[in-house]
Amino acid sequence: MNVLNAIQHRREITRFQNKKIPKEELEKILDAGYLAPSGNNLPSKELLLVANQEMLKQLSKTTPYVPWLANAAAAIVVLGRPDISKYWLQDTSIASGFIWLEAVELGVGGAFGAIYHSEDQQESDRREGYVREALNIPADRRVVAILGLGYPEEQPSAKKHIARESIIHYETFRIDK
Ligand SMILES: Cc1cc2nc3c(=O)[nH]c(=O)nc-3n(C[C@H](O)[C@H](O)[C@H](O)COP(=O)(O)O)c2cc1C
Repeated sequence: MNVLNAIQHRREITRFQNKKIPKEELEKILDAGYLAPSGNNLPSKELLLVANQEMLKQLSKTTPYVPWLANAAAAIVVLGRPDISKYWLQDTSIASGFIWLEAVELGVGGAFGAIYHSEDQQESDRREGYVREALNIPADRRVVAILGLGYPEEQPSAKKHIARESIIHYETFRIDK
């Protein structure tokens, strides 16, 4: 599958088969995040793989929006390091995208669980604290996201995207759309 194909086929998958992902495939998915670019080439991200079913169930309670983690085959917790780089949020975001696309290439479904909350510090502290506590993550790491992974139970139908011309501009910004 070429990159554009993977991008075109990617959907969020939240229903998974009860089937493990082989270790070599998980390592490839981790590599995609590991090899993603970072601002100033600084190592402001870390990735934590969780495959323990009890822990996945526990993590599924982090926010009301990640119940699917309970039935995922594995998850990757994406951590940011503000102490290393001011680009930690961008670095972790691009790594998350690469991870998701590599999963698609391997026929593995992915779901994105937002943990870090940019507009509600109290809520972010609660969510991140819950994950830190569960996984023994140091306090200086920001818990940006948890990506759930598993073989898709169903393939969502093609998605209707918003009009391309409302998103893409050429040469100068067009307001009259
Ligand atoms: C920044 C971001 C945060 C997201 N947070 C959640 C989340 O907490 N829970 C969830 O189920 N999906 C989450 N998603 C997935 C989106 O809801 C999903 O990608 C979007 O509806 C588009 O659907 P598609 O991925 O099938 O194209 C998030 C996606 C992104 C990019």
